[in-house]
Amino acid sequence: MNILVINGPNLNMLGIREPDIYGKETYGTLINKIEDYAESKGVAVKCYQSNHEGDLVDNIQFAYGVFDGIVINPGAYTHTSIALLDALKAVGIPTVEVHISDVSSREDFRQISYIRQACFKTITGKGTDGYLEAIDALIEKVNK
Ligand code: DQA
Repeated sequence: MNILVINGPNLNMLGIREPDIYGKETYGTLINKIEDYAESKGVAVKCYQSNHEGDLVDNIQFAYGVFDGIVINPGAYTHTSIALLDALKAVGIPTVEVHISDVSSREDFRQISYIRQACFKTITGKGTDGYLEAIDALIEKVNK
């Protein structure tokens, strides 16, 4: 099984950006944690991060026929991007939406997620452990 983990804008700033909201763990530490976890579960994982919407769309498209599942934290594009929604719908790969913070208890503008309708599960407010839970959900879904 082959999983693509996509992180959107400003997630490369983890550990620096608003640590009271997103924690002190760096992006590098997060990637190591995801890779170690995937290895322990016997799944291959590729992690990708971009601050650019079009690059995120390109990588979702590249995933077609290559990856069995996608974990995506689109950052602020969650709340704005129909292009990411359309890309996820186009490839039809089982996808889990992850947010480190509990977006449901934050600003009004964070209450809309365009990509949610293309995801079979959403995990919010569990810190970086949410990515690991998403991997578990994909393993369960794909092996069913
Ligand atoms: C986020 C929540 C978004 O609202 C925000 O724009 C982010 C990170 C999260 O992981 O909690 O960049 O997706």
